[in-house]
Amino acid sequence: MRLLVSTLLLAASCGRAAAPERLYVTLGVDALPAAQALTGAHVALDGTDHDVALIEIDAAQIDALADVMHEQFARCGGFFVHDSLADAEAALHAVAAPRRAAVDYTLDRAELVTRLLPQLDAERIRSTIAELSAMKNRYYQSQTGAAASTWLAERWRGLSTRSDVTVEQVEQGWAQKSVIMTIPGTTHPDEIVVIGGHLDSIALGGATSTAPGADDDASGIATVTEIARVFLASDVRPARTIQFMGYAAEEVGLRGSQAIAKDYGKRGLNVVGALQLDMTNYRGSEKDIWLMKDFTSAAQNAFLIQLIDTYVGATWGLDACGYGCSDHASWYRAGVPASMPFEARFRDHNKKIHSRNDTLEASDANAAHALKFARLGLAYALELAKP
Ligand code: BES
Ligand code: ZN
Repeated sequence: MRLLVSTLLLAASCGRAAAPERLYVTLGVDALPAAQALTGAHVALDGTDHDVALIEIDAAQIDALADVMHEQFARCGGFFVHDSLADAEAALHAVAAPRRAAVDYTLDRAELVTRLLPQLDAERIRSTIAELSAMKNRYYQSQTGAAASTWLAERWRGLSTRSDVTVEQVEQGWAQKSVIMTIPGTTHPDEIVVIGGHLDSIALGGATSTAPGADDDASGIATVTEIARVFLASDVRPARTIQFMGYAAEEVGLRGSQAIAKDYGKRGLNVVGALQLDMTNYRGSEKDIWLMKDFTSAAQNAFLIQLIDTYVGATWGLDACGYGCSDHASWYRAGVPASMPFEARFRDHNKKIHSRNDTLEASDANAAHALKFARLGLAYALELAKP
């Protein structure tokens, strides 16, 4: 059932001087009552068979909505924020975006992979998590959130002295900028492999809260950083372009990644695969790596399973978030093969996230769990970007 919810539709005719900025949010119908209670929205049914609803809200309500979704909704009500009604409606109707032709997932870089994987260092992952989680918060609209972006850009710049490797901070309309590091491809530079995680953290109270986000998602950013470090230290040149991404504003509706994915779509950039590392350092289930089946590519997930079995030496399982739980969903919506290898079964995830208690001590203090994801991510980079 499709629902169209609208607040203050009559605002314009009620003599308001300036209409507030409107944003459009698509979210699971299960999360609708909570969102409605907050925004006071009306509901209109039009009878099509979606379990996704669309609401129109005042931009000023976004942070409060994020709080409600995280707090009352126990992380089951993923939501997307859209700038326009047209974009929101497109998302509502996009049951499955058109998939691009699959790339060839052959494994033929065994020698390189087995030479580089042992260089990955859990201690470096641990110390990066410690540094990131020592910041008061990495909220997308706070000073410390902005500083976290600059800190990461500097850290990534320090990984290479090569002039063809670039690091940029992408202005997206918030204090915090997304960070993108590019290693240009040699023979197929127009085919892009993305490996990312989200830079921001959140806890009740927004910009003034204490939100260490050690697992969510300093762990992913630290894992991405270690993959990049070993890749760049080896000085191998990938055939395809590799982009490492630290997304801003994930916790408030996947906004940083969505802006990037949309921009890439507009510019006709060809992302052949996206790997999302969000929460890698809490071993909550009996197996090591859990591949989320929803909002991801089955073909690329099968490739990851091959990589795990061949190179990583970890156990794996399949599970689902049940909603677009992280930035892979932004790529998925843009038609890009995306995957989300996760630290546990969904139901066994680290329950300390989104609070002041999401610390390194409360996850894996040695980052041994995150190291498995670094092994997978580096194998992915090498076998997909093909040096
Ligand atoms: N890291 C979480 C996603 C997550 C949480 C995955 C628990 C698996 C288990 C992410 O940062 C997050 O909090 N996502 C939001 C949704 C997003 C659209 C704002 C969530 O899950 O509520
Ligand atoms: Zn989160």
